[in-house]
Amino acid sequence: MFITFEGPEGGGKSTQIRLLADHLREHGFNVEVTREPGGTSIGDQIRDVVHDTANTMMAPTAEVLLYSASRAQLVNQLIRPALKAGRIVLCDRFADSTMAYQGYGRGLEREMLAKLTEIATGGLTPDLTLLFDIDVASGLMRRLTEGDEMNRLDLEAIDFHERVRKGYHALAAAEPKRWVIINASRPVAEVAADVQRIVAERMAAMARRP
Ligand code: TMP
Repeated sequence: MFITFEGPEGGGKSTQIRLLADHLREHGFNVEVTREPGGTSIGDQIRDVVHDTANTMMAPTAEVLLYSASRAQLVNQLIRPALKAGRIVLCDRFADSTMAYQGYGRGLEREMLAKLTEIATGGLTPDLTLLFDIDVASGLMRRLTEGDEMNRLDLEAIDFHERVRKGYHALAAAEPKRWVIINASRPVAEVAADVQRIVAERMAAMARRP
């Protein structure tokens, strides 16, 4: 089973992915946790380049190709083999981030992005995508106050982040079976309980499928 964690900045995805992994492992599941960009040695090197705040000159097309290159490596090296081995893969961001940030945020043509995603993933799509939804101001404030590393995209104007958030809602509305929207502005434990329930329900539904 392949589950992705998505959302605008400061929605607490990383904390929630860790809590879900712990919970699933306590119940005897074999879990692989990874993230984008990164998750492999090659991907981590790409992450350094794409997020370096000094790279103010980066062209939007170069940016999307770097994210896609990291994704192609991750899918081939880690995600597909883990799924084949029957593991549950939890991924902090995946192709929907490209649609939300480079498509809705930067305004790159979404059909072109879909083709690029197809090349990078070989058509692999998540079984479940959780959208950790938080309003832009609270999300950015959370990142600042929690002392997270600020990347090149965090430094974009507020309206960029507003477009990203709207983009996520549009993506979720277009594929309601795959997406579940979670109100991420609530206390961590409350959000974690929701995540556990949603994942348990999806696992049960998948087990019932012929
Ligand atoms: P994070 O690891 O803190 O979530 O940061 C990842 C950043 O990279 C975040 O600002 C979103 C951005 N991003 C894209 O713009 N496009 C992508 O395809 C991916 C995977 C991430």
